[in-house]
Amino acid sequence: MKIVRTVIEVREQVKKWREQGLSVGFVPTMGYLHEGHKSLILKSVEQNDRTVVSIFVNPTQFGENEDLSTYPRDLDSDAALCTDAKADLIFHPEPEQMYPQGFCTGVNMSVLTQELCGKSRPVHFGGVCTVVSKLFNIVKPDRAYFGEKDAQQLAIIRRMVEDLNFDIEIVGCPIVRESDGLAKSSRNTYLNTEERKAAVILSKSIALGKELVQNGERDAQTIIKAMTEKISSEPLARIDYVEVVDALTMQKVQKIEKSVLVAIAVFIGKTRLIDNFSFNI
Ligand code: PAF
Repeated sequence: MKIVRTVIEVREQVKKWREQGLSVGFVPTMGYLHEGHKSLILKSVEQNDRTVVSIFVNPTQFGENEDLSTYPRDLDSDAALCTDAKADLIFHPEPEQMYPQGFCTGVNMSVLTQELCGKSRPVHFGGVCTVVSKLFNIVKPDRAYFGEKDAQQLAIIRRMVEDLNFDIEIVGCPIVRESDGLAKSSRNTYLNTEERKAAVILSKSIALGKELVQNGERDAQTIIKAMTEKISSEPLARIDYVEVVDALTMQKVQKIEKSVLVAIAVFIGKTRLIDNFSFNI
């Protein structure tokens, strides 16, 4: 497995594969890879002849007071995980490679980006859409893999691919969890021992919401109230949002009548964690 740092190197490698008639899968990441990322890479390896993984902590998707400078990084361990999962190429650019001097173009989306995480992270999804568009244009994959933990991001990428006519199949992959239920996330490393124990409240409230819906509850407020009460029982937890939204548009719904996303964002101490489940009618 090779690690390259420039756009030219990625293009040359992908061109060679294309000339051999090989298909290309792509897993965009910000590194500090865990089992959740690995499941995306394994899916790509299963479905494509070659797999490219990008590792780039994208500055444009972090707000001013967010954790860009402290975001965890470990290229050696990431490379080991990629080798183990049989990825073929890591693209690990410097910020200047992705955003050279004079860079002033962005991809912005309305509607979907203004709900849920978009409310407390107003610049986030513009940065995600911009970097993912750039990465798609650099790698030009047949398929790209995203985790369902970032369900709003996945819905936004699907919308962007449709709206901007990217010829790429977007594959969503299920949430991977720790043994106690906490969704795997690079940000879990911010939690101290006490916070780590408290963080299980997210998956507990998700399990409660899911049980209610599966038992026939269709009123969004009833589900939100039960999940909110559950999360509030944990003293270290502070709710950012608990919402029931249309799975495609991310707009709030009152009654569950078609496919919905039930999504939460909760601060445990200073760490903001997210979780969700989808319900398809
Ligand atoms: O989900 C992530 O890790 C990032 O938002 C992504 C898609 C790699 C873009 O920087």
